[in-house]
Amino acid sequence: MTFSRRHVLAALGAGLLAAPARAQSRPTMLIHKDPDCDCCLEWSHHVRDAGFSVTIKETSDLRAIRARRRIPLALAGCHTADIEGYVIEGHVPAPEIIRLLAERPHALGLAVPGMPIGSPGMEISGSAPETYAVVLFGAGQGIYARYRGTERL
Ligand code: CU
Ligand code: CU
Repeated sequence: MTFSRRHVLAALGAGLLAAPARAQSRPTMLIHKDPDCDCCLEWSHHVRDAGFSVTIKETSDLRAIRARRRIPLALAGCHTADIEGYVIEGHVPAPEIIRLLAERPHALGLAVPGMPIGSPGMEISGSAPETYAVVLFGAGQGIYARYRGTERL
């Protein structure tokens, strides 16, 4: 009797320990990147560190990927990612992707146009981080957040 009870308690303990780890895991992101670009890889580490699973697909025709996802040319970054029906273009900070998936706005996705210095994956030691906007696009276009480097303003 006491033996089986101890087993139940052990199983319960294991379950409780496993629960927070499950809550932390986030959906899988498919990142399309150019094989010759390294900052995309740095950005993939940033989103992976935030709990996302990451799959990378290398392509030298990102223009076609962007066109298919109706990403305005002016919003182009250096990589395009798909996650849960949304598009993430460029060096978007992970907290905004988490917020996007929680709020689920009627939009195509988020973009950080260009490659602002200091944005996640674009940290350059000795260079001051730039101020930039995270743009929500699709149904109209608006500023979702403002950042300086990896810091939200
Ligand atoms: Cu880049
Ligand atoms: Cu890159």
